[in-house]
Amino acid sequence: MSHVLSEKIKFRKLPDLFTLSDGSKVASLEDWERRREEIREVLLREEYGFMPEAPAEVRAVTQERDEGAFANKAVWAKLQICFDTPKGEFSFPVDLIVPKAVAKPPVFLHIAFRPDVPDSYLPMEELLDQGFAVANFCYNDVTADTLDESGLASMYDRDPLYGWGKISMWAWAASRVMDYLVTLDTVDSSRVAVVGHSRLGKTALLCGAMDERFSMVISNESGCGGAALNRWKGGERIKDLEQVVPYWFCGQFQNHVDGENEMSFDQHFLLALSAPRALYIASAQLDDWADPLSEFLSAYAASPVYTLYGKIGLVTKDELPPLDQPLQEGTVGYHMRSGSHFFSRTDWLQYVQYRKAHNV
Ligand code: GCU
Repeated sequence: MSHVLSEKIKFRKLPDLFTLSDGSKVASLEDWERRREEIREVLLREEYGFMPEAPAEVRAVTQERDEGAFANKAVWAKLQICFDTPKGEFSFPVDLIVPKAVAKPPVFLHIAFRPDVPDSYLPMEELLDQGFAVANFCYNDVTADTLDESGLASMYDRDPLYGWGKISMWAWAASRVMDYLVTLDTVDSSRVAVVGHSRLGKTALLCGAMDERFSMVISNESGCGGAALNRWKGGERIKDLEQVVPYWFCGQFQNHVDGENEMSFDQHFLLALSAPRALYIASAQLDDWADPLSEFLSAYAASPVYTLYGKIGLVTKDELPPLDQPLQEGTVGYHMRSGSHFFSRTDWLQYVQYRKAHNV
């Protein structure tokens, strides 16, 4: 097969981002705004499941506060984010670590596998040194990563076919953290990047797609159901997800097992919803299960949306991306890191570099 990207994309026969459901073509930004609503709707209905309305108010209760954390470089608050639901109050813990050396720092909102901040997936002190605040919450504290309908899942009635799966729940919870961040004057809430790795990269993409308050959306090796295109994908497929973790998605997603080529959407639709904001997709060379090529082609296929806004998406030659040479010129960034599936310090430092260069 050819190595030319335009050929590789043609081969996958992707559904068109710019054709509205009535058959008309997007010719202006106004048309795109309509198309964007259609795309949001189709992704929620067919894949992730519809989320409830945001609560009217979010409260943060401080549990602990350390004014001299990380060698006195930062203020570390342990918070409980609380809000009302149809079945009473719900809350989950969030850590907010703000460097002292910077006035109103930008924030990484990290949707995390683990609750502890000095985690191997999070080079916490280095991010502080680079001038970033971090808001961190553990996805299992929102609702367990099991079939179990605990936590947030128990607080709302859910349509079995179209109601939210767990990725939607975790993404929605990240938006509740954002509800709190926008009330603070100690951080710059116009520069918050939502970030996650693997299943939580899928979550970060969905969160950023639905919530336009984030200035940047970062997917670290999110693979199937995340950045990677489904059509002609290697490694994990929808049928694998539906066999092992069907509860990540809505019930309706089951109907697309083995039917990738007939779907009216693909994952570049999800990526396109981040436009015109900064979007960064990262892959690891040995991550065959996620399929780096399908992640990269998705970023490439979503990029034309940025042109409608007078921006440039991915800046790349018409060829596969070079290893360990990030593409960071455009509003869509990409890198393929050598090594395996991991949220590496190397990945984080690329996001830091991109954010500083683009001031997002
Ligand atoms: C499994 C799953 C992937 C997911 C990954 C992870 O491998 O099949 O879809 O991305 O877990 O979250 O680490």
